[in-house]
Amino acid sequence: MDRPEYVRNTALINWVESMVELCKPDAVHWCDGSQEEYDALCNQLVETGTFIRLNPAKRPNSFLARSDPSDVARVEDRTFICSISKTDAGPTNNWVAPKEMKETLHQLFDGCMRGRTMYVIPFSMGPLGSPIAHVGVELSDSPYVVTNMRIMTRMGKAVYDVLGADGEFIPCVHSVGMPLEPGQQDVPWPCNKDQKYIVHFPEERSIWSYGSGYGGNALLGKKCFALRIASVMARDEGWLAEHMLILGVENPQGEKTYIAAAFPSACGKTNFAMLIPPAAFDGWKVTTIGDDIAWIKPGTDGKLYAINPEAGYFGVAPGTSFDTNPNAMESIRANTIFTNVALTDDGDVWWEGMTKTPPAHLIDWHGNDWTPDAGRPSSHPNARFTAPAGQNPVIDPAWENPAGVPIKAFIFGGRRSTTVPLVYQAFNWMYGVYMAATMGSETTAAAVGAVGNVRRDPFAMLPFCGYHMAEYFNHWLQFGRTIPNPPRIFGVNWFRKDANGKFLWPGFGENMRILKWVVDRANGQAVGIESPIGWMPRYRDIDWKGLDFSEERFAELMSVDRDQWMNEIVQHEELFIKLYDRLPKELLSIRDLIISSLWRAPEHWEFWAD
Ligand code: OXD
Ligand code: MN
Repeated sequence: MDRPEYVRNTALINWVESMVELCKPDAVHWCDGSQEEYDALCNQLVETGTFIRLNPAKRPNSFLARSDPSDVARVEDRTFICSISKTDAGPTNNWVAPKEMKETLHQLFDGCMRGRTMYVIPFSMGPLGSPIAHVGVELSDSPYVVTNMRIMTRMGKAVYDVLGADGEFIPCVHSVGMPLEPGQQDVPWPCNKDQKYIVHFPEERSIWSYGSGYGGNALLGKKCFALRIASVMARDEGWLAEHMLILGVENPQGEKTYIAAAFPSACGKTNFAMLIPPAAFDGWKVTTIGDDIAWIKPGTDGKLYAINPEAGYFGVAPGTSFDTNPNAMESIRANTIFTNVALTDDGDVWWEGMTKTPPAHLIDWHGNDWTPDAGRPSSHPNARFTAPAGQNPVIDPAWENPAGVPIKAFIFGGRRSTTVPLVYQAFNWMYGVYMAATMGSETTAAAVGAVGNVRRDPFAMLPFCGYHMAEYFNHWLQFGRTIPNPPRIFGVNWFRKDANGKFLWPGFGENMRILKWVVDRANGQAVGIESPIGWMPRYRDIDWKGLDFSEERFAELMSVDRDQWMNEIVQHEELFIKLYDRLPKELLSIRDLIISSLWRAPEHWEFWAD
């Protein structure tokens, strides 16, 4: 396919030419992002066996893909930050010298697209032309990637207008790493079982991904660009690129407050972004701007404005149901790509947790017959849906506003069965940075590590920060100094358990009660009292209408236990020691202040003890 005449960007044209020379594809397809192109690619994917068209009566214009069983998730141990200096990548990232990595990549990419088409995918992260948005171009030999990128980003012809003749873009190269010899039959999910490389060059601001066709490894706009490379751009340019959802809370008076919240993977982030307030909260509305990533820039008025750089949801399917997240279920009614879920006999999809009773028969994510007594899940735990954000019934009317929405508060939360209270507010920005820097989450079956271990995941950015984590803390501290009235910072934990191992808090829609306190607090309208670790609501400061929740239970949920916290702080210390070479020393002072407040307070702090 000839290059369309509307592609005028010289740097882009030269780069594509050099990549064609290296990767040696059979053909080049310049994507225009049109519906016709999308439909044609989906039909092609059906013909080659990558897609199964779902029953149009049940799930219109939707498809199921089954990946290779070896290619089912992000590969953190194969993800590299190749800054010029190793120290700049920091101890939490894998690093290889750029020169050495480039040699490896050039060998791998030499001829890697033989027998395949190279797709040129122009995309904007954020509304086209927004001052907060940035453009990328992904070259990929996977039509599955093209279809997903069209849902997840603003992809197509209009991006070239934004780019013009000399506009900047982030070059992203992706190959499944499986060239086809003449006459060789392709497989439904091509990938390279032996070699995977997800590589970022932060100084050059480029991305190279080899060997995987799955999610964050292959849809390079998401974790690779919008977090790893963008975090470096944000540091250099004075903004924030964060692993955060953005939601709007509207009170019955019609006043809207926007909040950004960071949670590690597997903490119900999509559920929180689409929360439905309890029935008793008549007149309150929660609306979604984004469910995974926030780009935040200071406005000329000193406020912080956020956009969701994405245009779709790449959500975890298992556990999603009309009970847990009806808005997500509505978002995936049509025009959705499902990956690694089960197929029902009537041509629809199913996964663990979608309904209480599983269907009597399914085809599982391996393509095998499955019955409820199979003794194995029908869907992969990291099975996904890719759905257009505009299909979310509670999408915020401002979600495509190029100016972004003003952020009033940041929430940080992890999955912690002990120690961490339901909600507390940092005393100030610096305490907030400490809270976020030291946050941890218990590992679940979907994440790395033994189940139940606390993994420190600063700002939920551990796998996504494109430079030294401690320098990132410093960027946050510095950023707070440059804005007159920075957003308030809160910690939450929906997952604390009682002595019998039962969750103390019902979660889901009931989180609205906590959100209300957070919003009111951020607007200076709610009471908080001083606990050893931050400001907290008392029982009477939370709106309990419509829920029977005892004061004793609340006290247990909110208690601060000195021994547990001392143990916690020792774990913070471990992280600090690891990051010590660039650790902002303010954090050590905050740690000392927390230790002394814990000693000043009773051993087991509860409200009536105050
Ligand atoms: C995700 C993640 O997939 O954070 O969003 O792992
Ligand atoms: Mn995420």
